Amino acid sequence: MSQDVVSWSSNLEAYCWSLVYVLSTILFFGIFWRITGSFFLSKLGLLREAKELELPPTYHEGPPFIGNLIAFAKGPLNVVQRGYRCCGDIFTFKVLHKNITFLIGPKAHEIFFQGTDEELDQNEVYAFSVPIFGKGVVYDAPLDKRLQQLRIMSAALRPARMYSYVDQMVYEAVLFFRKWGEQGEVDILESLSDLIILTASRCLMGREVREQLFEKVSKLYHDLDQGMQPISVFAPYLPIAAHRKRDKAREEMVQLFRTVIQNRRRRGVKEDDMLQIFMDASYRDGSRPSEYEVAGLLIALLFAGQHTSSITGSWTGMLLLRNKDVFERVKKEQETVMEEYGDELHYEALNKMNLLHLCVKETLRMYPPLILLMRKVLKPKVYKQYVIPENDIVMVSPAVSGRLDTVFKNPDVWDPDRFGPERAEDKKAPFSFIAFGGGRHGCMGEQFAYLQIKTIWTVLIRSFDLEPVGDLSQPDYNAMVVGPRPPCLLKYRKKKDSFLDRVALFA
Ligand code: HEM
Ligand SMILES: *[C@@H]1O[C@H](CO)[C@@H](O)[C@H](O)[C@H]1NC(C)=O
Repeated sequence: MSQDVVSWSSNLEAYCWSLVYVLSTILFFGIFWRITGSFFLSKLGLLREAKELELPPTYHEGPPFIGNLIAFAKGPLNVVQRGYRCCGDIFTFKVLHKNITFLIGPKAHEIFFQGTDEELDQNEVYAFSVPIFGKGVVYDAPLDKRLQQLRIMSAALRPARMYSYVDQMVYEAVLFFRKWGEQGEVDILESLSDLIILTASRCLMGREVREQLFEKVSKLYHDLDQGMQPISVFAPYLPIAAHRKRDKAREEMVQLFRTVIQNRRRRGVKEDDMLQIFMDASYRDGSRPSEYEVAGLLIALLFAGQHTSSITGSWTGMLLLRNKDVFERVKKEQETVMEEYGDELHYEALNKMNLLHLCVKETLRMYPPLILLMRKVLKPKVYKQYVIPENDIVMVSPAVSGRLDTVFKNPDVWDPDRFGPERAEDKKAPFSFIAFGGGRHGCMGEQFAYLQIKTIWTVLIRSFDLEPVGDLSQPDYNAMVVGPRPPCLLKYRKKKDSFLDRVALFA
């Protein structure tokens, strides 16, 4: 009997211990699994099934099938804004047979900007650029080659290069504004387009083009530019007059650069411009970009920088002239910078102009020239409980995201101080300010663009008394690169002791 009690009680003890052992093992592995399991699962791609993902909500307007197309053609931004209000920060919008998924706001932007090239592809959505940049150049090159071409372009735009570009910008701006004379009225968008193609031709295409071939190149550029019609996005090779002119202009452009390149090589001269960098660049296998490719890269940079910069430069001035308080502070800032540097206008002096910088940035928040950025989904992407399937087009909208009141306080008010160190409204979450895109394909020309626009307004403010004419223009959302609807007039009167008359220029 006592024997039984002993064995029973020792059995109980053993039983308890094994229970404790089993439970703690379960607990331990449970915690371990909680910490590491989702990591392994997601690595194995199993989490998708585990979480039961669904397609993003769809947003539709108007009559079936064509409703969305009509709405989108009428006003793309309004549709996207309504979609966001209705469905939240991710929704799919069907246009004909295409499924377009919008990602709105900093959190959703991460999916777009952190995607790799293998997941989110640019080539197909930017295919309309191929007849302009050329076959085998950038968006027509296989990924590996495209990345090498982008690397070559970024070498031409790296910070150390900016010193000499700024000198060339100042030189062109001073010569250009001297032609304005004592007083008058100008369309600032027209003026800045003319000026920026001059700077571009000097910094990008070099001395030969700027000094001997400028008339010819600007005509060719004009034909290339006119070859980019809204219809060209859908049918880049449609046999229309604009496309024929475009193709002819491209051929002539290549021929022209071939001659310039061969001349430089023959004479053994090296110039301080982007053309030289492209000529001297090499791919990983040691081969040089062909003359055809060099011309293509130059055209690509010209297109990336021309309208974007002239438009942003124009908006910045138009807004500045209509915001007297900020304008006065910008003039003060000029005086402060001049106390240190006098009339010397170079890279360092421009970098001291913080307020002017914020004015450009705030302008880009409200009026980004590129209103929609897109990629094609090659591998499904997961956001929240949604999966964006392969073959969808994903889009983000700098124009819509710049006006989110969850990110920017009073988003419809132009207020450069929101980006100042105290408020830094864009620093609370990454990818809040996306006028220059972001991530691996963010704009390479950002610094160049700021320097150019700051140079232009510095020369103008130091040289003229300026006044706005009429109301602020509205953006023209029908254009490929969205700018102010003309006219964009301002009045100027040369100052008594104008910067234009004070400075001496050395070419
Ligand atoms: C205010 C002026 C400008 C704005 C608003 C702007 C905006 C942008 C945006 C939004 C992108 C990203 C496109 C995408 O993700 O699909 C981009 C890319 C790019 N930009 Fe700019 N840009 C400006 C000026 C310039 C200038 C002046 C240059 C060159 C001189 C330039 C060269 C480029 C290049 C090469 C890329 C492609 C980068 C890549 O794909 O890796 N941009 N730009
Ligand atoms: C668009 O999405 C629907 C599901 O909502 C799908 O049936 C269709 O195949 C998709 N179209 C394309 C072109 O991917």
